[in-house]
Formats: sequence, C-alpha cells, structure tokens
Amino acid sequence: LLTVDSTQPGPQVSTELGGIFFEDINHSGEGGLYAELVNNRSFMAAATPLHWSATGTATLAVDTAQPLNSALTQSLRVTAKAAGDGVANEGYWGIPVRPSTAYRASLYAKSADSTGKLTVAIVGTDGKVHATGATGPLTGSWRKCELTLRTAADAPTTTNARLVVTTSVPGTLWLSQVSLFPPTYKGRKNGLRIDLMEKLAALEPKFLRFPGGNYLEGNVIADRFDWKKTIGPVEQRPGHHNSAWGYWSTDGLGLPEYLQMTEDLGCMPLLCVYAGYSLQGAHVTGDALKPFVQGAVDQIEYITGPTTSTWGARRAADGHPKPFPLKYVEIGNEDWFDKSGSYEERYAAFHDAIKARFPALKLIATTPVASRPYDLIDEHYYQSPSAFQAGSHKYDRRDRNSPKVFVGEWASQEGRPTPDLNAALGDASWIAGIIRNSDQVLMESYAPLFSHVRDNTWATNLIAYDALTSYNSPSYYAQQLLLTRRGTVVLPTAVRALPGINVVTTHDPGARRIYLAVVNTGGTARKTTVTLQGVARTDASAAVTVLAGAHLQATNTLTDPLAVVPRGRTVDAVAPTFTATFAPYSVTVLEVHTA
Ligand code: AHR
Repeated sequence: LLTVDSTQPGPQVSTELGGIFFEDINHSGEGGLYAELVNNRSFMAAATPLHWSATGTATLAVDTAQPLNSALTQSLRVTAKAAGDGVANEGYWGIPVRPSTAYRASLYAKSADSTGKLTVAIVGTDGKVHATGATGPLTGSWRKCELTLRTAADAPTTTNARLVVTTSVPGTLWLSQVSLFPPTYKGRKNGLRIDLMEKLAALEPKFLRFPGGNYLEGNVIADRFDWKKTIGPVEQRPGHHNSAWGYWSTDGLGLPEYLQMTEDLGCMPLLCVYAGYSLQGAHVTGDALKPFVQGAVDQIEYITGPTTSTWGARRAADGHPKPFPLKYVEIGNEDWFDKSGSYEERYAAFHDAIKARFPALKLIATTPVASRPYDLIDEHYYQSPSAFQAGSHKYDRRDRNSPKVFVGEWASQEGRPTPDLNAALGDASWIAGIIRNSDQVLMESYAPLFSHVRDNTWATNLIAYDALTSYNSPSYYAQQLLLTRRGTVVLPTAVRALPGINVVTTHDPGARRIYLAVVNTGGTARKTTVTLQGVARTDASAAVTVLAGAHLQATNTLTDPLAVVPRGRTVDAVAPTFTATFAPYSVTVLEVHTA
C-alpha cells in the first residue's frame, strides 16, 4: 500500500536540487567538454612532441629557445627536408569528421628563412583529405594564421582523422598554439562541445560545482588549479600538469569558460577555491597561507566585482563585463584526508577573509570545523547500488538541527564507463531520499559527470563519449526523471508491504499536480493501491514515465545508447484511491492532476 498524506505537507523541496559537478577527470575537459580538437596544442605537455608525429621526411623537436611568449615557453621545431613535409596531430583518439561542417583552425608560425606557406588539413588515416586551407607566407616573426576548414556534404562521420600541417618549401619552421575547433555550444569562440552541453542542459541543473575535486588540489601544490593562470587570452595561459588524473591541461577551459558555462546552462556557479592542501599531503599554514587566501578573495572579485575593481576589470577584459551571481563558495575539497588537522586553521583564515569582504556569501566546509561557522557541509559517498538503495533512508532520522548538507559527490558504483540499471536504481533510491529530506540536504551533485571511453580512469561516470558521439547512462535518466518532474513540497508517504520499493511524493499546489516517484529495485512487478489522502478528486488519466530494463546489468553504450531510456504514456482509472503497477527494476514518475 502507498498512502500519500496531502493534509500534512512535509518540507519544501529545496530549489537548489540538483546540480552538476564538473572536474577534468577521464579527459572530461581536455578531449571532452572543451571543444578543442588538437591534443597538446601548445607543445607544453612534455619535452617531446607528445601526440604529434612527423609527416614525409620532416623531423620534430620541442624547442625552448623559440617561445611564443612568457606563458608558452616551448614551441615545435619542424625541420622539413622537402616541400610537403610537416606534422600531424592525432587529436584525442582521433579528430572527429562531420559532413558539411566548418572548423576554425588557427596557429602561430614562423620560419627560419621567411619563406613558404602552410597547408592545414583534416586528413583520414587512409590519406583522404576531408577539409583543407592554406596560410599566407610565413616570416621570421611569429604570425597568427586563422583558417576555416570546411568538410563536404559527403564527408564521412568518423573519428578516423588527424590534423596535418605541411609546408610548401623545405627549411626550418616553428609552430605554437595549433588549434582546431568544431562548432561549439551557443557558438562560443573558445567554447564547449555541443552534444555534451545539450546533455547537461537537459538535466536543468541548478548549479555547477567546479573545478574539482582532486583536480582543484593536484597531487602537489604546483599542480593545483591556479585560477590566475586560467584567465586572459588562451595563448597566454601556460597550462598545468593535471597530476591527479594523469594528463596535461591547457587551461583553455579556465575560470572564464566555467563561468560562461553556468550562464549558458542557466545555473549558478558553486566555486571551489584551493585551500592550501594537495593530495600527497602538502599543506600550507601561517603566513604562507596568506597569498592563497588573498587569491580566493581575488577570485571572488573576478567573478562578482564591478568593472571598476581590479579583478572585475580583468573579467570585463575577458569579455564579460557583467558580474556573475555567486552564492556559495566551497573551501577546499575532501579535507578529511588532511591528517595534519590543518583544515581548522585553513578554513578559519579563508572564512574570515571572505566574510569580511563578501559577507553575504555562504561557505561550504569539506569536513567539520569547530572555530568558525559554515553554511553547508559537503559529504561524498561512493558506494554499491545496494548501499544506496538502503541509503534512501539515511537522512530520514537526521537531527533536524544538524548542519545542512551538500552532497557534492556521490554515485552507485557499478558499470564502466557508465552505470548500469542496478546502479541507476540505487541512485534513484538515493535521490528519492534526498528530495524527501531536502530540508536537510539542500544540494547534491553526482560524480564524476563524464568519461572519455578511451580514458576511463574512474570507473563509473554519468555520461560517456568518444571524439564524435556521446550517450547518457541509465543513472542520468533516473536523476533527470526525479529531479525535473517534481513538485515544490514533499508529501509524507507511507509504504506498507512493498519490499524493495523506495518512494518520494511531491506536490505542486499551483499546478495542482502530485508527483509520485517510485523506485522498484525488485525483479517482480508490484501492483498496489495508491491512496491520496486529502484529495477529493483527480483527473481520470495521469502521465506516467518509466525507466526500466529487462535485467540489472542492462545499460547504454556508444553503440546502443538508447537501450535503457525513459518512456512516457498515460494511465487511466486514476482517482483519489487507485491501483498502480510498478514494473520490475524500474523508476516510475506518475503525475496526477488534482481537481
Ligand atoms: O569524483 C572523483 C574524485 O572523487 C574527486 O576528484 C574527489 O573529490 C573524490 O575523491
């Protein structure tokens, strides 16, 4: 029996449920969301030309004697023995080729003897040229060349291509910042991949937590997300070693791009500031911490300050005069790992400086502290699907006077690179519990969000892709179902004699709609009586959306992206008391219109 009590509403549903958490893990940014197609475009990743190879008889070397500027201190020296020699970039497991598409190519180049032109082309490994263009003549000084490469209508849809740059004459030349962008989301110049942004937008996120995670901290302090090196023109960003996840970050996806992303998604930024702790245990205290604290204050000024402020002016110079709205700042990440206990001091220093300058901001602590208040505590949970099914009730009996919670990272871990249906049932159960208790858990974000299928370092992720296509996991759809089809207030719901069922009911009094969300984690259909206490009349039919699969390991993949997707229909004979059936292994949302 399911008995919904509309006469004694529970808490308001938090308007800040749910969000997304992005960090550059599994090539989520580089080779993922960040639409740049050239891998190691600035030759800063190593002392050798990683991801580049010579074509023809050319020889290549990374050259520190011919920097583009003080940020990009390495360039590629190409020694061409013959006209037509050059270099090829393999992209991130291939350059995606789409028909009738305009790609924006750009590069900096100079030649030792001020001669020759370059041909820039997208070339299949079979040698077929899919798109091509030529630069003007090179000189002895760095020159920026920009081209549009257009594929023909009959170009194949494939990742089987490289970007090839060849010279018209033999000799020595240098390249720097070689870039290739496909069309981007909302046409942003240094923008994001369209299919991935569309998937995020369809989740209707309320906030974006960024930039990490371990990515924020780095293994060592030098590898942290050093935001001041991620602003300004991209060719003036040195990049850094993403030591947490094992590859180079150009920082082309930097602070301005994250902020633009929030605006494009219509959500608020939830900024995580580096707080003086890195993953291998280095921690900063005392006077040495002061520059990091000031850095966070400057960062907040960059985001929210007027254009008359130092850092607000830098934001304006980066193309966004209007300040961004900012409500939450998280101090560090997972500081329970800091066994030195320095978080107490570090949090206090950030708290005092930020509150003194920006008193309205709400602060999130990553582990409890005693000497200063915090508005939310960030809890992280990576567990089995069965633990999350049981975890649906974790917050039911919470002391309502406890600190409010932000579950900033969580996931049922089963399946790679994305969760299977069993994990989705755990995730749906967990979300149901969070919505029921959203007076306690104000915000949540699943993690990680993305994985490139060729770099699945972290096993279970919400969305996966290769260079060309992407797909959503069953967990994505489970979250989308529960978080986008919901009312504004929780209605208490008694569940009797229904093992394996987790439920949340919400009501939108304005729209006169009750949303009954039911997770059936069991392998048999559950037929039951639903009673809507306090409801006099309903429409006779109701919209129902069901996410289900034949077995627990059912999942989506690049080649079968729609195996487990929600399906909508209407059900009849709905009334204040009616009979409903919940399919095996399913997540169901019933939308009942009350009179
Ligand atoms: O989400 C993957 C990692 O898990 C995050 O970087 C870190 O915060 C957590 O340990």
